[in-house]
Amino acid sequence: MGAGWNEGMAMKKYRKQDFPVEQVRRFLEPGPIVLVSSACDGERDIMTMGWHMVLEFSPSLLACCISSGNHSFELVRRSRECVINLPTVDIVDTVAGIGNSSGAQIDKFAHFGLTAEDAEHVDAPLIAECHSSFECRLHDDSQVERYNLFIWEVVKAHVAPRPRIPQTVHYRGDGEFMVAGKEISRRRLFLPEML
Ligand SMILES: Cc1cc2nc3c(=O)[nH]c(=O)nc-3n(C[C@H](O)[C@H](O)[C@H](O)COP(=O)(O)O)c2cc1C
Repeated sequence: MGAGWNEGMAMKKYRKQDFPVEQVRRFLEPGPIVLVSSACDGERDIMTMGWHMVLEFSPSLLACCISSGNHSFELVRRSRECVINLPTVDIVDTVAGIGNSSGAQIDKFAHFGLTAEDAEHVDAPLIAECHSSFECRLHDDSQVERYNLFIWEVVKAHVAPRPRIPQTVHYRGDGEFMVAGKEISRRRLFLPEML
């Protein structure tokens, strides 16, 4: 290993045990937890989502898994649009509530006292109480039938300048969340093209 890595300190080795493969998500779900807002034919909904990932810088592509049992699934599939909103820890109870109720029964904006704001490029609303909101158009639906996997292009991003680093929540399963913590920088170890 090159000099500089961990400043020459002996690195701790972990003694590992067998672990159920279906539970590895408890370590790998990266979060941050997001709220997906959608709208179609005069109906709107919000769902809580942890299963998402970045696919490409430009065009800005994201993938996410939306269960076909969710009310949001049909709104998103039919409209081919959504907004991915980033909530912070101060509204974590609302985040949990949205993820444990169905838009088939309630209007979640009204029920949870959230403010729907007009987006610029999509009909799905932005959530004013979230730190950031990313307007998305469906880029590729080829994996929807097989994996409920939607591949989105972010066509517009709305981000609050403060706080610069929002205190996001990251799901660990079993009703437990991690809260984003302290930041550290290792810029000096990065190649310029990797930043
Ligand atoms: C922390 C958390 C993370 C979740 N992540 C996902 C997810 O990634 N994909 C998914 O389909 N459902 C996920 N859910 C479940 C949906 O949010 C939940 O089924 C919700 O009630 C769907 O709402 P809807 O029926 O109004 O669309 C999650 C729920 C919670 C609480």
